[in-house]
Amino acid sequence: MKFQKICVIGLGYIGLPTASTFALHGVEVLGVDTNPGIIETLNKGEIHIHEPGLRDAVSKAVESGKFKASTQPKEADAFIIAVPTPFQENRFGEYNGIQYKLADMRAVISAAESILPVLKEGNLVILESTSPPRTTFDLLAPILEKSSLKAGTDFHLCYSPERVLPGQILRELTENARVIGGMTPESAQAGADLYSIFVKGQIIQTDATTAEMVKLMENTYRDVNIAIANEFSRLADKFGVNVWEAISIANLHPRVKILSPGPGVGGHCISVDPWFFVETAPELTPLIYHSRQVNDSQPHFVVETVRRTLGELQGKRIAALGLAYKPDVDDLRESPASEVVHLLQKSGAQVKAWEPFKPDANLNGIAISPTFEDAIKDADALLLLVKHTEFMKFDPVEIAQSTTARIAIDTVNGWNASQWRSAGFQTAKLGVGK
Ligand SMILES: NC(=O)c1ccc[n+]([C@@H]2O[C@H](COP(=O)([O-])OP(=O)(O)OC[C@H]3O[C@@H](n4cnc5c(N)ncnc54)[C@H](O)[C@@H]3O)[C@@H](O)[C@H]2O)c1
Repeated sequence: MKFQKICVIGLGYIGLPTASTFALHGVEVLGVDTNPGIIETLNKGEIHIHEPGLRDAVSKAVESGKFKASTQPKEADAFIIAVPTPFQENRFGEYNGIQYKLADMRAVISAAESILPVLKEGNLVILESTSPPRTTFDLLAPILEKSSLKAGTDFHLCYSPERVLPGQILRELTENARVIGGMTPESAQAGADLYSIFVKGQIIQTDATTAEMVKLMENTYRDVNIAIANEFSRLADKFGVNVWEAISIANLHPRVKILSPGPGVGGHCISVDPWFFVETAPELTPLIYHSRQVNDSQPHFVVETVRRTLGELQGKRIAALGLAYKPDVDDLRESPASEVVHLLQKSGAQVKAWEPFKPDANLNGIAISPTFEDAIKDADALLLLVKHTEFMKFDPVEIAQSTTARIAIDTVNGWNASQWRSAGFQTAKLGVGK
């Protein structure tokens, strides 16, 4: 199949890099988003999210005349849907006394409905949003077939998961292997033709449900492995062991690769996607369910560590360093660091948070300091919650001159405790028992 014109629906962390990359490869791209503020920003060649290289890519794509943004899709050869699939905030499923989270598919449904008036015979539709197994067949195809065109016959339909790493999205978009799951083998071939415009990695064709499962398996595998690392951190704490040392020794075994513990698991992928398996098969997923429980409860373990170090938390002034869900990104969604701050506040602590990648973030009930200096100056303790590179470069001697704090608590194994002690700080680390 040849593609001259495509529509990318949803212009966030996934849709915008995808749209601008296609445009820079000569395809005429209409980016579509329901948020008019985003459309206005993009049409000026500016961007609304932080991702290395993206500002340059979007401004070049707009300048070339190949990328335009609108709130409505128009006729095109292919439509790519990259809208959010979070979980529902207030509705839960239940199975045998366990409560599980449910996917919120409203954006996928409305994105599919928005294509209906412009869908034509011979088109290709690709869903990129992470979705529960069988979404392409059971949710997307029936909506698109309201056009009276048949999926897999009159138009091609695919699922192609996105597996890029935030912070390296533009590079990974072209270099990573790409999975294309077709409703039919012909659909998979059409999807492969589209992505081969810029993908240099291997393109693997399979069926749509396999592609959906592959994406969920990847993130669930990581979640379960982080859960065991977090559980090891609690065991080490109980037995007076340093979990970081124990893991580094265990990992010398040629067939063992334990991941790092931390304050929990966040972001809108690893902490969300495993629920899509639990939701669709709660009777088959006790391990996945319990791993989610372990990771979601890890912020409580952080608070216990802080309480043990500082004593009664009421009135204690804590500088919480980092609110993003992982190092060197500005994404605060589902962040365990924010959960730690909420829990500390509930215990009566006075927390000032500092997030260098989003100093103007507006988080429900969390006071974000305008500067790093403001966050630390009157603190009793510094609490490291995210391994941002700039936090790793701190000189404890310099920090000691800018803060009243003399306690440094590290939840990510980011600081050299002996250096901090030499600078006059009492130190504590997550997963290091007394
Ligand atoms: N961000 C990542 O690193 C990543 C990685 C892999 C997979 N994913 C998956 O990709 C999908 C998109 O994620 P994201 O991070 O780009 O989300 P995002 O929130 O950054 O962006 C989504 C955009 O879609 C827009 N939108 C919502 N409903 C719409 C509709 N009906 N029509 C048009 N636009 C609409 C929103 O306004 C928003 O700008 C999700 O399913 C996510 O799980 C994300």
